[in-house]
Amino acid sequence: MRKPFICGNWKMYKTVAEAVAFINEAKGLVAGTGDVEVGIGAPATALKSLADAAKGTNIRIGGENCHWEKEGAFTGEISPGMLVEAGCSFVIIGHSERRQYFGETNETASKKIKAALASGLDVILCCGETLAEREAGKTAAVVDDHVRNGLAGLDVRQLQKIVIAYEPVWAIGTGKTATPAQAQEAHAGIRKLLADLFGKNAADSIRIQYGGSVKPENVKEIMAQPDVDGALVGGASLKPDSFAKLVHYGK
Ligand code: 13P
Repeated sequence: MRKPFICGNWKMYKTVAEAVAFINEAKGLVAGTGDVEVGIGAPATALKSLADAAKGTNIRIGGENCHWEKEGAFTGEISPGMLVEAGCSFVIIGHSERRQYFGETNETASKKIKAALASGLDVILCCGETLAEREAGKTAAVVDDHVRNGLAGLDVRQLQKIVIAYEPVWAIGTGKTATPAQAQEAHAGIRKLLADLFGKNAADSIRIQYGGSVKPENVKEIMAQPDVDGALVGGASLKPDSFAKLVHYGK
C-alpha cells in the first residue's frame, strides 16, 4: 500500500516569523493523520526554525532546491548536507519554476537527486508539460523525458526514496486544475514508465503526487484516482486551516 503524501510547497512565501506562526497554529490541526504523510517545502531562510518548531509533530520539513556539490564556490547555493543540518528530511527537485526561470534541466535535476539521496534526503522530482506542449499532443513525451532522465542512473533501492510529482505547468497557480481523468492518465503513464525502467514491484510502490491548483474543494476527487498518491500544493498550503483540510481530505 502506498501511503498518501500531502505536501505544501511554499515557494517564495513566508518570513521566519510567519513560518513558525504557521506551524504553531497548524500542528494541532494536522495531528492524527496516521494514514497520511504530511510535509512542507519552505524557503531556505525559514527551514531551521520551521524544523525546530515542527519537532514532535507529524510535519516533515523539506527544501525547495539544492546544489549537487557538498560545498564550494557556488554563491547563493545550498548543499543537501546543509538542508539535512537545518532539519530537512526531503527536497523538491526539478520544479517547473526552477526549469522555467533558473535554468534547471534534466541533467542538473539528476545530479541534484543523486547528491540529495547520498546525503540521506528523500526527493520529490517534479515533472509536467506546458500548455503549448499539451496542445501539441506532447504531454506523454515531455513527462517521459523529465522522469526518465531525472532518474537516470538510479537503482531500485534509491527509487524507494523518490516521490514523483506530476505538475502540469498550465495548472500551477492558475486555478485550472487538471481533471481527475487527466491526472490519472498522466500518473498511469508515469507508473508504466517506472515499471519499464525499474520493474513492476518498484513502480507499484513509488508515490506519484499531483500538483496544480489543488484546494480543499477538489483534493478529494483527485486523491480518489487509483494512481494519485498525494498532492504537492502551492497556494492552498499557505494557510493552516486550508492546509489542514487538505491533509484530512479523506474525512
Ligand atoms: P499551486 O497549488 O499554487 O497551483 O502550485 C502548485 C505547485 O507548483 C506546487 O509545487
